[in-house]
Amino acid sequence: MTQIENVAEISETPLVPIEKIVSLCKRRGFVYPNSEIYGGVAGIYDFGPLGVELRNNIRRFWWWSMVQNHDNVVGIEGAIITHPRVWEASGHVENFVDKLVDCKKCRQRFRVDHLPPENLEQKKCPACGGELTEPRSFNLLMETYLGVVEDERMKTYLRGEACQNIYLDYDNVQKSSRMQIPFGICQIGKAFRNEVTPRNFLFRQREFEQWDLQFFVHPSQMQQWFDYWKQFRFEWYKSILNHKDRLRFRTHGSDELAHYAKQAFDIEYQTVLGWQEWEGIHWRQDWDLSRHSQYSGQDLSYTDPNTKERFIPWIVETSGGVDRTFLNLLLDAYEEQPDPTGKDNERTVLHLHPWLAPVKVAVLPLQKNKEELVSTAKGIHKSLQRLMVSQYDDVQNIGRRYRRQDEIGTPYCVTIDFKTLEDQTVTVRERDSMSQIRLPISELTMYLLDRVVWK
Ligand code: GAP
Repeated sequence: MTQIENVAEISETPLVPIEKIVSLCKRRGFVYPNSEIYGGVAGIYDFGPLGVELRNNIRRFWWWSMVQNHDNVVGIEGAIITHPRVWEASGHVENFVDKLVDCKKCRQRFRVDHLPPENLEQKKCPACGGELTEPRSFNLLMETYLGVVEDERMKTYLRGEACQNIYLDYDNVQKSSRMQIPFGICQIGKAFRNEVTPRNFLFRQREFEQWDLQFFVHPSQMQQWFDYWKQFRFEWYKSILNHKDRLRFRTHGSDELAHYAKQAFDIEYQTVLGWQEWEGIHWRQDWDLSRHSQYSGQDLSYTDPNTKERFIPWIVETSGGVDRTFLNLLLDAYEEQPDPTGKDNERTVLHLHPWLAPVKVAVLPLQKNKEELVSTAKGIHKSLQRLMVSQYDDVQNIGRRYRRQDEIGTPYCVTIDFKTLEDQTVTVRERDSMSQIRLPISELTMYLLDRVVWK
């Protein structure tokens, strides 16, 4: 049976339609459909200039809090292609399948595990009421071939989950970094799945990015570390959300556990798509290292340097998606605010955490035809650029420029006006409250660094 923990009141603020985010992403250069000029490829996207900044910030924050801020965790970056035996040992060749049914009438395709039970029982299409086919199984691994000579080519796979590199490198990392159990290895990397129903923009793609921690423990300490990471990851997501009440845990029922998991929790987030998985916390036990020991013939057991006990470490996994984080943060941050004065000054604002915002500050001269204003503004922009992403903008009136920055989530705008030329002060405007303060230029860098860089 599925259990829900940490159920919070459903937030009063309306949920943002995905279409609003898709449109903003294309319009402002966050995300584009891949190969769009050829008609696109379902479930594959490219990230534009602002998207890549946001993505890098999200990744960096994860890496900082998981790796650099934990003495017992280190990082790796493994290859996308591995030996094909890896995927036999991992169980993916055998078990990584989706069962599908097709509607004989409207031709829509559905994953069996996404169908309401009554539709499955009655073989009835949830869209048009037509008859459904018998379930068929599809393996999600994407095949590729190594080598150039036709009959000498070796079939292998693009990795179906990023975490496998960690098990493959576990012994090397443990020895070369002299890590002692309990310790963890992290990786951020692309994964590939032949999803048969890619949909909902970045939510379910065929090429996506995962972040994983695999934490290796003595079996007697499994519960303690499982609880620690479960809570840590929940708090991590909470810390970057505006709508914290839209986050919860869900326990996997025994009928939905992945082939490697003895216990699993999803951290779920509520959007217009309903409550959906954001990250999985998995009790992988000794599945991975035992299987790779067995398939490779290499002994991956660990000897405790103090007790001399020899054992296969058990593993706590936290596995989430960079793309789902990207999408959920935009859905969480997006707001269309009406103008309280009714003067046609409504704005769209992204309330992104300042640490994650793609642009940290915009530098705006009040007028672009006043040489002194422009050169002072460009000087300030250049000096800020050494430390953070700064945009210089002198096109259109100041109100429009503020709106453009609000829409991409820039937390601060700095305006250079005629008073600046007299007393070397600038106006700093904050995105969410729209409040403004006057600051000496000499204090500006520290003021911004204090607010836009994590510590
Ligand atoms: N190593 C365990 C593992 O891969 P998973 O639940 O299949 O577990 C982990 O994937 C996370 O990867 C998910 O919680 C989700 O955030 C992300 N993810 C999985 N499939 C995805 C897809 N098709 N598109 C985008 N993100 C995906």
